[in-house]
Amino acid sequence: MAADAFVSQLNEQIAHEFAAHQQYVAIAVHYDGETLPQLAAFFYRQALEERDHAMMMVRYLLDADAEVVIPGVAAPQVGFSDVVAPVSLALAQERRVTEQINALASTARTEGDFTSEQFIQWFIKEQVEEVSLMEDLLNVVERSRENLLLAEEFIARENLGAEGSDPTAPPADEG
Ligand SMILES: [Fe+2]
Ligand SMILES: [Fe+2]
Repeated sequence: MAADAFVSQLNEQIAHEFAAHQQYVAIAVHYDGETLPQLAAFFYRQALEERDHAMMMVRYLLDADAEVVIPGVAAPQVGFSDVVAPVSLALAQERRVTEQINALASTARTEGDFTSEQFIQWFIKEQVEEVSLMEDLLNVVERSRENLLLAEEFIARENLGAEGSDPTAPPADEG
């Protein structure tokens, strides 16, 4: 039985994950409109990962017979001052989510809810990877400010952000 405090905090996190999805779609569309297809593809991929995160949380609450409420989400930022700004925004977002995930882990532990604590562990590891990935991308776009085709080449060559399936990931769908 998941602790009530954890359940309500996880419901809030579902809204943050869906909002992250919308934000990354908005960034992808922005780059797509600038004819930067690798940057666009990178953010379309990240958007799908955020949706998966939300659905893993939904699935966990369903499996735990806990209340789950699919939320409305805050509108994403759609206008950007320059080519680097979307990546700075994305990095800030990942850092914020890391704090939120850590707070969830802390609640699970305080409540003695070991099942939820174990569930949230995967997200702690995932956030380390996502923050590091956005830091890498920020370095690359800052270095490529004058010629973003260099960033495009880098993303393609390094296959940046393209992950294989992770067998340790919590399920995002029924199964
Ligand atoms: Fe996420
Ligand atoms: Fe993320």
